[in-house]
Amino acid sequence: MPEKLSQEQLLEIAKEFGTPVYVYHAEKIKEQYEKLTESFKNTNTVFFYACKALTNINILKYIRSLGCNVDCSSINEVRLALHAGFSPGNILYTSNGIAFDEIEEAKELGVIINIDSLSNLKKFGQKFGHSYPVGIRLRPNIMAGGNLKISTGHDKSKFGIPVEQIDEILAVVNKYNLHIKDLHIHTGSEIKDVDVFLRGIEVLFQIVPHFPDLEFIDLGGGFKVPYIEGDSETNMPLLAEKVKEDFDRHAETKGKNFQIWFEPGKFIVSECGYLISQVNVMKETGNTVFAGINSGFNHLIRPMFYDAYHRIENISNPGGAEKIYTITGNICETDTFASDRKVAEIREGDYLVFYNAGAYGFEMSSNFNSRYKPAEVLVKDGKAQLIRRRDVFEDLLKNQLEII
Ligand code: LLP
Repeated sequence: MPEKLSQEQLLEIAKEFGTPVYVYHAEKIKEQYEKLTESFKNTNTVFFYACKALTNINILKYIRSLGCNVDCSSINEVRLALHAGFSPGNILYTSNGIAFDEIEEAKELGVIINIDSLSNLKKFGQKFGHSYPVGIRLRPNIMAGGNLKISTGHDKSKFGIPVEQIDEILAVVNKYNLHIKDLHIHTGSEIKDVDVFLRGIEVLFQIVPHFPDLEFIDLGGGFKVPYIEGDSETNMPLLAEKVKEDFDRHAETKGKNFQIWFEPGKFIVSECGYLISQVNVMKETGNTVFAGINSGFNHLIRPMFYDAYHRIENISNPGGAEKIYTITGNICETDTFASDRKVAEIREGDYLVFYNAGAYGFEMSSNFNSRYKPAEVLVKDGKAQLIRRRDVFEDLLKNQLEII
């Protein structure tokens, strides 16, 4: 049975903790992680949770308790992961465009590092040579993902070292006798098509023979999750079967068995999360009925930034007659969550819930318009607990120095 919080539970939480509030459901995270491990159980695969999706320390600790590793995209995420109790060997730092001192710090901390530029690879070679194993992030030149903003592996993308620069890569590796332990690609987010991953494997396997020390092949994240009833997700058992076929074939012909790595973010935490807000103002105009809520793109930017669809329900009037609404925020800019959306009759004060709010929801929130970031609540073993208090006025001034 898929784990899901009921409308009644969500309403109760909203009343207890106030709105806007992010709610996460621990057991749903577990269910998603187990879907991955179960699908890949006949393969040698390790999962690193891409924590950029959601870094609340309790979520990190919970995910660690499930036995999952963690993938970080900044040195602060690495520090958070260490704080959450992950051991350095289970932390992957897949860097992009970072200053070399972060790589030095990651090395000091003993975590696994994927380097994404020739420049940093050279600096790494000069400083550490063969002494510390390292991975290379490649750009496979594959177009994939839900939309251009979240496509990262195509031939105009800033991410990774383009595979066609293999000669330059090898020149650096050989010059400094680098110990290359893994090769990484990440083609994008919301990839439904299993073949995209297989194309990535094909690209990698062509250059694998150049790296005799290789132990791991890192295929990145990007699995698709369903956003509406009937929507599909990446077919994990099928992906596992196909990936296994490719790796087995490679092991048979080349005699080398690699461990497979994945870095899922959305797949692990998207569906565990809910954003609950309340309706401030109803506004009827000639052609549109607006429901203005106490949130905005300062809390959930995905609909505006990626045209992402988030299912919305009126949990305080679930039986109400469905009507068409445009749901907007209270930010002094156009912040439309949904246009002409059918929702059970909305009245001022009603509670609206946004689904799939676990990944890149709170994590991409801001204090724009000097509004507070929402509170976060974790439901675990049937108990709802506050895991981040809502901002208070002092938070807005906290780092400011009043020199006038
Ligand atoms: N690994 C690397 C190197 C990545 O850059 C990302 C995401 C992931 C793993 C995890 O991808 P996921 O499994 O979550 O799709 N904010 C956007 C998504 C951007 C993802 C950036 N990189 C959104 O809300 O759709």
